[in-house]
Amino acid sequence: MTAASPTSRQDLADLLAFYASAGVDEALEDAPVNRFAEAPPRQAERAPAPPQAARENRPAQAPPAGPRLDTSAVPDAPARQSAATVPDEAQAALARQLARSAATLEELRQHMAAFDGCNLKFTAKNLVFADGNPNASLMLVGEAPGRDEDLEGLPFVGRSGQLLDRMLAAIGLDRGSAYIANVIPWRPPGNRTPTPHETEICRPFIERQIELVNPKVLVNLGGPSAKTLLNTTEGILRLRGNWRIHTTASGIAIPAMPTLHPAYLLRTPAHKKLAWRDFVEVKVKLRELGAG
Ligand code: URA
Repeated sequence: MTAASPTSRQDLADLLAFYASAGVDEALEDAPVNRFAEAPPRQAERAPAPPQAARENRPAQAPPAGPRLDTSAVPDAPARQSAATVPDEAQAALARQLARSAATLEELRQHMAAFDGCNLKFTAKNLVFADGNPNASLMLVGEAPGRDEDLEGLPFVGRSGQLLDRMLAAIGLDRGSAYIANVIPWRPPGNRTPTPHETEICRPFIERQIELVNPKVLVNLGGPSAKTLLNTTEGILRLRGNWRIHTTASGIAIPAMPTLHPAYLLRTPAHKKLAWRDFVEVKVKLRELGAG
């Protein structure tokens, strides 16, 4: 950007905010490079070129700051892998260790807040850990926070949250008698679908959260929650309405009801009756288990 550019500071700030919300998390070069316009190098030309800094006769700089895996807090944490190897596996291993080592929900929340191994953290405004009553018999797990949730740091506070509150009220419950969390605790930029890697990195945290809450009944809100926590690849329209089991790391079997996500119901109101049936099943199950 030159001094003669008419772009104001505000324009630049807006542009940066747009990039951040679109998931751009690293600046590599000062100027954009059109890689499509570059011809692939021929074999004979592949001799390593001197680094750009050396060519320009200036000192090499540290790589841009990206997500950092701080293993110092964890005994026996896997050694940091170079970014060129398999960083996601190292981060998932660290997440597993941190999750296992959390003895309480508050410890788990603190470990998650300090965890730098998931790139989503760096574009999100807040960690969205949970809402509701941690002693509740019913726990509901959604996919990932949206914009409103990211701003407030609480799950399901936007339009789908309002619908969820009405669905809970229909079976006589509210946030004082249910506990709500998400598979992914950081908002994916632009509400994009979390990648399989991001889900694998975050999975140990939600699994431990379920284990620590130890609800009598779990409700999976939408396909991603059901697939991640019920170990299935079936679609939500086939899964919903049928009891499954979520097994915790310590072997506790929790009855789980997969149902339709409130955001889907807002787009497809004709299917609300299906979700209603699923919630009635949940109420009956809670009663059977002496928790209704
Ligand atoms: N959708 C989700 O899956 N979770 C939220 O917290 C909000 C919307």
